[in-house]
Amino acid sequence: MHVLVTGGAGYIGSVTGALLLDEGHSVTVFDNLELGHRAAIDTRAALMVGDLRNADAIDRAIAETRPDAVMHFAADALVGESMAQPERYFGNNVAGGLNLAAAMLRHGVRRIVLSSTCATYGEPERLPITEDSAQRPTNPYGESKLMLERALDWYRRLHGLHVVSLRYFNACGAAGGRGEDHSPETHLIPILLQVALGQREQACIHGDDYPTPDGSCIRDYIHVSDLARAHLLALTTPASGAFNLGTGSGFSVKQVLAAARAVTGHPIPASVGPRRPGDPPVLVAAADKARQVLGWTPQITAIEDIIASAWEWHRAHPDGYGG
Ligand code: UFG
Repeated sequence: MHVLVTGGAGYIGSVTGALLLDEGHSVTVFDNLELGHRAAIDTRAALMVGDLRNADAIDRAIAETRPDAVMHFAADALVGESMAQPERYFGNNVAGGLNLAAAMLRHGVRRIVLSSTCATYGEPERLPITEDSAQRPTNPYGESKLMLERALDWYRRLHGLHVVSLRYFNACGAAGGRGEDHSPETHLIPILLQVALGQREQACIHGDDYPTPDGSCIRDYIHVSDLARAHLLALTTPASGAFNLGTGSGFSVKQVLAAARAVTGHPIPASVGPRRPGDPPVLVAAADKARQVLGWTPQITAIEDIIASAWEWHRAHPDGYGG
């Protein structure tokens, strides 16, 4: 298939683009290169530099490339930033996504795989989180993804668009020479590895007074190559709807820190700071639906293995894609 990959210069989009190419698909990346990196894009992919907020630009891209399907990664994805700049999130994630969907409908492109998030659930009412849990986002990031999920679902019902929404838990790790390079970096694992590389003095544990066994927040860390494989399965499945992508196991911040110390052999000094606004204590996926319907099984589930893959990439690319 020919797949248009929006956000294909970003972390998960670039890994998935490479996997699509490995599997014999052809790829056109549509990316504004604001947060993504040209160097992350597989050399076999075509690149169109453009912004989804420009309706004409995405319309032209769809008209020219006539893809069989779209994988839509391009988005802003930081919870904290979304609390400070909600208009950025609704403008880019919602309005941009709607421009993309309108162009697809106009030009007869019938299939989309959407990058969604567990942030659409907000504070979970029960754990692990199933897809039919209430979706009550607690920040504009989660709300923006939910709004797009819902709009696309109406296009599915009314226009027959085939929609698969993949709700990622905590994406991490590196694959095929591609890793996490955000600026500024706010994610736990890259920050711990930056301390191990001597780029930061110490890490901060954002709160250890949560109602969890060791007091720090628990997350479901899912390797980026497993996320990429889920997209390949979503590309051809006859099923539509939403799927959680996580391992089903949670690790606390302190457990991740201990694992990072073991993997790197570095003491990674860390202090305990205040809670970070908007952080739910525990987010763990029930991913049975993806297993049963998509036939997806995460391969890299040990936290040490996940961190080891990220560590290898960060050591080889201490300055990210800039170095
Ligand atoms: N954390 C620290 N110290 C740090 C960085 C993070 O203690 O320096 C903690 C956070 O408070 C959180 C956990 O580590 O408890 C994981 O934080 P990340 O920033 O790595 O990831 P988030 O869980 O905040 O965010 C991820 C995705 C979002 C998604 C969100 C859903 O990056 O896109 O999960 O809650 F929306």
